[in-house]
Amino acid sequence: MYNPTEKCLQGAQVLWNRPQGSGYYRMGLGCAGKIESVHPGQFLMLRLEGQQSPLLRRPFSVHQVIVDQHRIRGFEILYKVVGDGTALLAGAKKGDGIDVLGPLGKSFVVHPGHKTVYCVAGGIGVAPFLFLAARMSVAGFDMSGVSLFLGGRTANDLLCVEDFETLGMSPILATDDGSRGQRGLVTAPLEEAIRTSPPDMMYACGPLPMLRVVMAIAAHHDLPCQVSIETIMACGMGACLGCAVKDKKRHAAYRHACVDGPVFDAEEIVL
Ligand SMILES: Cc1cc2nc3c(=O)[nH]c(=O)nc-3n(C[C@H](O)[C@H](O)[C@H](O)COP(=O)(O)OP(=O)(O)OC[C@H]3O[C@@H](n4cnc5c(N)ncnc54)[C@H](O)[C@@H]3O)c2cc1C
Ligand code: FES
Repeated sequence: MYNPTEKCLQGAQVLWNRPQGSGYYRMGLGCAGKIESVHPGQFLMLRLEGQQSPLLRRPFSVHQVIVDQHRIRGFEILYKVVGDGTALLAGAKKGDGIDVLGPLGKSFVVHPGHKTVYCVAGGIGVAPFLFLAARMSVAGFDMSGVSLFLGGRTANDLLCVEDFETLGMSPILATDDGSRGQRGLVTAPLEEAIRTSPPDMMYACGPLPMLRVVMAIAAHHDLPCQVSIETIMACGMGACLGCAVKDKKRHAAYRHACVDGPVFDAEEIVL
């Protein structure tokens, strides 16, 4: 179990909090404390200081890392306003104090020998993939072999497309209403691509129904797949047991998304 005092980043402040349209924001967080390491897929538990409600911190994927003079100085998160906690975050101003716990959880496992990699994101599920793609680019992956399949309800829900293009990727887009990219579910172009060019690895993050389809596709084509799951979390440290996920291999056993995940091998869990 994590020791919360070890994971609490002292003196964290909001550096920026920029609207991205349609209820999405990017928030930069500066952290005074020492951050040894952070890996794509890990998350932070956040709460604005001085707020009584909500009492609990909320989990957010690390979207980008702020590095200065080879040291990690902070993080950027990408978030969507869905309730009280995220509405409060949306009102935060530069200089506001923020209570940060992290980085927490298990990250995506990247294999240097992989040439063809498919990332599948639904809506705000795109958040961890910019960091993953940036790390892969720095690690020397040929980014033309790393594809992002990005789906959303409308064009407004397709975020960060230009950021991925800057990294040499050409995101494959799909929207429910056809306002950008292919009309329909993002899993349709994914399956098409798998038939012509099966990947060495698939990574997925997004709504539960999308993850279930991606996991079924991976199982059907016998492809390795890692999924990042966004369960509701209270403590983020393995203490409250609120983030239980069914274990596929052990009958009636559960894994905890906060400490055993949020990234799991698709073969490990039942969603
Ligand atoms: C590991 C992890 C990483 C995450 N990364 C991001 C991220 O990068 N960006 C981002 O915007 N969100 C992310 N989330 C989801 C985010 O934590 C929730 O949206 C947030 O906690 C909602 O807080 P709230 O107080 O605004 O909403 P609440 O008032 O708590 O809830 C409002 C509504 O949203 C629903 N809800 C709450 N949490 C979740 C959830 N995890 N999944 C689906 N529905 C939920 C509730 O059931 C309710 O209907 C992540 C979650 C996890 C577990
Ligand atoms: S969120 Fe409390 S145990 Fe996982």
